[in-house]
Formats: sequence, C-alpha cells, structure tokens
Amino acid sequence: MPVRALWFRGRTLHLIDQRELPARTVVRRLTRVREVADAIRTMVVRGAPAIGVAAAYGMALAHREGSYSPARAAKLLRATRPTAVDLAVGVEAVRTAWVAGEDPRAAADRYRAEIVDECHRIGIAGAPLLRRAHRVLTHCNAGALATVEWGTALAPIRVARARGADLFVWVDETRPLLQGARLTAWELARERIPHAVIADNAAGAFMQAGQVDAVIVGADRIARNGDFANKIGTYEKAVVARENEVPFYVAAPWSTFDIGRPDGRAIPVEERGEEEVLELAGRRIAPRGSHARNPAFDVTPAKFVTAFVTPLGVVRPGDLSTALARRPST
Ligand code: MRU
Repeated sequence: MPVRALWFRGRTLHLIDQRELPARTVVRRLTRVREVADAIRTMVVRGAPAIGVAAAYGMALAHREGSYSPARAAKLLRATRPTAVDLAVGVEAVRTAWVAGEDPRAAADRYRAEIVDECHRIGIAGAPLLRRAHRVLTHCNAGALATVEWGTALAPIRVARARGADLFVWVDETRPLLQGARLTAWELARERIPHAVIADNAAGAFMQAGQVDAVIVGADRIARNGDFANKIGTYEKAVVARENEVPFYVAAPWSTFDIGRPDGRAIPVEERGEEEVLELAGRRIAPRGSHARNPAFDVTPAKFVTAFVTPLGVVRPGDLSTALARRPST
C-alpha cells in the first residue's frame, strides 16, 4: 500500500502520528479544529503541503462545530506554524468557499486532490532528471508523509524507480527531529528503495568524494525570485553542492510559491523549543544548565538552485517568473 499521511472519513480527520514513526504506526482521529491546530503545532502532521491539507480539513471541522466564524477558525490554524505558506493557502481555499456559502468539506476534498495530483505531476516531471543521477541525496522528509501522497522530492525518485531506474538515496538524518532518519528512511524501506542514512554533517564529505550525483529537496516557502525556505541545514547542502558541481533541485507544488514575497529576506523562520536540540528521542544529551537555539528552517538563495521541479515541469531559476505566470489559478 502506498503511504498516505492523512485521510478524512465520516466526520473525522485521520492523521498518522509522525512523532511515533518508525517504531509504531499510530492513527490520531480528530473531530475539532482546535485538535487539528494542536496536531500541526506539535508536529503530529508536518511537511508543508500536508499541513496545508490538514488545515483545510480543520476549517471544514470548524464549520461543522458551529461556534467558529470563518475568520476565527482561519486565525487559529494560521497561527500554528509560520514558515510553510501552504498552511495559509490550504486555510484560504476553504475559507473562501465557506464565505461563499459552499460546502467547506467539499472544498477541503478538492484542495487535497489538487495537492496529490500536483505531487504526482512533480514526480513525472522530475523523474528524467534522475536518468543519469544514480546516487541522490535528500534532506528532511519531503515524501508522502509531508504531502499526503507521492511527496515532492521523493516523487521523482518514486516515479524513476517505478520505471526501472537504478537509484540509491542518501538520507540526511535531519537533526533535531530526525525527519530523514525516521520518516524518509521509513518510506524508502517500505518501498525497498536502496538508501543509507547519514549524519547531517557527513553530506559534504560524500559530495566531495564524488558519491552524490544530485541533491533534491522540498521547500516550505519559495519567494518570487526563487530564494526558498526549507528544513534547517538545506542551505549548507546547497552551498556544498555548488562547490562540488552537484546539481541541486527543489521540488514543490504551487501552494509553496509565495509570489507576494519578492525574495527570501523576510521569510518568517520558525524558532522551536530548545528541548528539541538539548534532547534526543526524549533523553537529555546536553548538560543541565546548557541552552540551545533551534531555528527550524533556513533560507537558500536562488543562485544555488539548478532547477525547480514544478507540476508544469522543470524550471530554471531565471524562468521562474514566466512559469509562475502560467500556473493554473486555484
Ligand atoms: O518541520 P517540518 O518537518 O514540517 O519541515 C518540513 C520540511 O522542511 C520539508 O522539507 C518541506 O516541508 C518540504 S515537504 C514536501
């Protein structure tokens, strides 16, 4: 069975609790918008497109609860995590339908279907890039868990594999919450895609040794000029990829492009609790009395991007504004 991060049945949003993977597959059942907001904040569900879809269903649940206005429900959900623009896009898709007197549940279903379809098309568009790239490195989890189905960075890998490509994936462990070691490795292992988890600080050495043919990552927000935010550590991977002439690809659906933002300078970067850095799997690793900083994302300048993989195809940074003008309006 392909992985699905979430689904809506009856009156309930079902989420795979990503904090529990890979040890246990636990499904959380949510019927209230406040529960959805908590699930996004605490990263039961995470990954930019997936939190957008979860928030869209959160709006539908708020409508059914009866005590929320569209604006109040939207505000509650938007306040959960600041960096991924997809969250606001998912909320807005349902808020406008609700205000127009349409069925919010149907609007959320439509939004989910669009994201799944776009991720599939990203896979088809990106697979040819991997024809000559057998060893691909990825950071964080940009798979089905992060997007509902297919993934962004993992979609071209899935499609290329299904077409018989001989691929090997280097999986950055992705401290502090280990989305690579726990989630990307789980998805790849389920599909028997050969891979190895590496410590975050090993990626540069593997690139320098000529053992990485391409890097492909997802994004949480892409500014109009192509600067983009993604999981902390992405920026240094991009710089090292350039230094070693390794192509660096960024895969994303349209919901991740924030065309109102000219460049990456003002992208809001979430700072999470210091315990995520001071602890590992719930166990304190730094001395009592030590403090930490925990920015969850960094911003990579567009000059380090070889190409964006979009639902409309592969786009060089210089052609991004033309591609954005051609994207379907939602
Ligand atoms: O903090 P997270 O786990 O939500 O961060 C997720 C990422 O940074 C992903 O790389 C990004 O959302 C792209 S997902 C397709």
